[in-house]
Amino acid sequence: MIFTVAIDGPAAAGKGTIARAIAGRYGFAHLDSGLLYRAVARKALDGMSAEDAARGLDPSDLSEAGLRTAAISSEASRVAAIPEVRSALVHFQRAFARSEGGAVIDGRDIGTVICPEAEVKLFVTASPEVRAERRWKELTGSGADTTLDAVLADVHERDRRDAERATSPMIAAEDALQLDTSAMSIDEALAAAAAHVEARLPR
Ligand code: DC
Repeated sequence: MIFTVAIDGPAAAGKGTIARAIAGRYGFAHLDSGLLYRAVARKALDGMSAEDAARGLDPSDLSEAGLRTAAISSEASRVAAIPEVRSALVHFQRAFARSEGGAVIDGRDIGTVICPEAEVKLFVTASPEVRAERRWKELTGSGADTTLDAVLADVHERDRRDAERATSPMIAAEDALQLDTSAMSIDEALAAAAAHVEARLPR
């Protein structure tokens, strides 16, 4: 069975949590496409050109360890604006979307550019304040020393860069279900997402 679930939205809106839960519940493969841009960013920070890094990216570059630092987050949103970087990553993502048994991919342009034919599209949002607070709790919980104001400034900056870039900006597909998780618990958001998937599964 080929069945693609595309989940887009800004940072810390809950799309990763929803994507992992949907993949686990239905046995679908899961790709966090942000890791592709983060892996390219790490190589760019090490001195390689971002275009070469994207063309030579290997799945073994995607292990999460060390890819979630603030420096890599910021560099990832910069390299993600380079058209040659984005086009070098399209093939891998489209092939993944067609994984036998179903696939969930989360990112910014999955429902619009990578998989416009996806069976299920979700656009997960939350207010910048709510997202900053969630991210701040995560960061301080894992020992990072940062303030809520600094995290909020970072959220605004990345939103602006991801939404305003000329190539594949972050935008909801017309046929995506928009899920605003600002006032939802994780369980409520998961239930809404799962109901949307369930209604579209082949029987
Ligand atoms: O989801 P994330 O925070 O790990 O993504 C890191 C950066 O990569 C983010 O600033 C935007 C970019 N990105 C993108 O442009 N397109 C995607 N499909 C996924 C991520």
